Amino acid sequence: MVVLGIETTCDETAAAVVERRPDGSGAILSNVVLSQTEEHAAFGGVVPEIAARAHVEALDQIIAAALEQAGQTFQSIDAVAAAAGPGLIGGVIVGLTTAKAIALVTGIPLVAVNHLEAHGLSPRLIGSVPFPYCLFLASGGHTQIVAVRGVGDYVRLGTTRDDAIGEAFDKTAKLLGLGYPGGPEVESQAEHGDPTRFILPRPMLGRADADFSFSGLKTAVRLEAQRIAPLSKVDIADMCASFQQAVTDVVADRLSAGLELFHASYGAPTALVAAGGVASNRAIRLVLHAVAREAHTVLVVPPPELCTDNAAMIAWAGAERLACGLTDPLDISPRARWPLEAVTKPPVKDQPADAES
Ligand code: KG4
Ligand code: ZN
Repeated sequence: MVVLGIETTCDETAAAVVERRPDGSGAILSNVVLSQTEEHAAFGGVVPEIAARAHVEALDQIIAAALEQAGQTFQSIDAVAAAAGPGLIGGVIVGLTTAKAIALVTGIPLVAVNHLEAHGLSPRLIGSVPFPYCLFLASGGHTQIVAVRGVGDYVRLGTTRDDAIGEAFDKTAKLLGLGYPGGPEVESQAEHGDPTRFILPRPMLGRADADFSFSGLKTAVRLEAQRIAPLSKVDIADMCASFQQAVTDVVADRLSAGLELFHASYGAPTALVAAGGVASNRAIRLVLHAVAREAHTVLVVPPPELCTDNAAMIAWAGAERLACGLTDPLDISPRARWPLEAVTKPPVKDQPADAES
């Protein structure tokens, strides 16, 4: 089956077409992403109203480009999937309403996809990753460790109690006078900094739960920066390296705890899957490899274009749900908040019989 996907929950306007074959394997036929980064850069973060307006202006052309690149038309696709949340509600309304219009006019089914579920299922689009696996979702809006047990079947093992991990990178970059988005800037500064120079806290280390907290770390960076102001180039590089080392230590510890929780309830995971923009950080990837090895599993990180926000993952989640017989009515509401556990589950007997699970 061929599915058109639409993503507008944050600052990327994206549309993509994917195919799901009867054996459960997938193929990306097109994947078009228009980033609004430049429009938000001056504000040091995403401005919801600007994002929503930019989605309205761009979405029609982005969808047309995705269909054309895939060699498809509204008549040839089998379903339309849109991210219906969680996210910035103005943008979510734009994408979901557009998908509803397409479904209404063409008569094809609508699938309202949870954006987090799409991140969670994305590794299955590019390879055989059977259920159950452990997902580490690390983006600007989310920090979660999730047991992915099947389509629609997710158990959150850990989450952040305050800032998201990417948000911690972005806020640290901002207070050091670096650009937005902050993660890549902090990573490149950290490469030539001394990670041992500043003693920063490692919040939540050693706890039996798998939760995160980053606000104390961010505050510690701010206090240190104020203490030694004005900051030289070397100070900034050392602060970035010290911050990144603290985050990396926290990620290693919290994921080890998360994998233990996974093991206790569901046995061995088939893989540790990392997704979200922060998963592209090389220091974090290194530590994820080590954590996976220690837990006797493998690390799967989808390619960067599937890790950061995109519509191929939305189309794919739509296809996986459709294969389970799950579609949505045209009056379904967009949601700013939508915990993964609240997505509708297929009855057990309707899970797709794919080759790998
Ligand atoms: O998944 P994503 O593109 O969008 C959502 O937030 O959903 O993630 C963006 C986040 C931003 O906070 C950005 O600073 C962070 O991912 N990020 C990074 C890196 N690249 C992007 N954080 C650390 N190191 C990076 N190399
Ligand atoms: Zn995302």
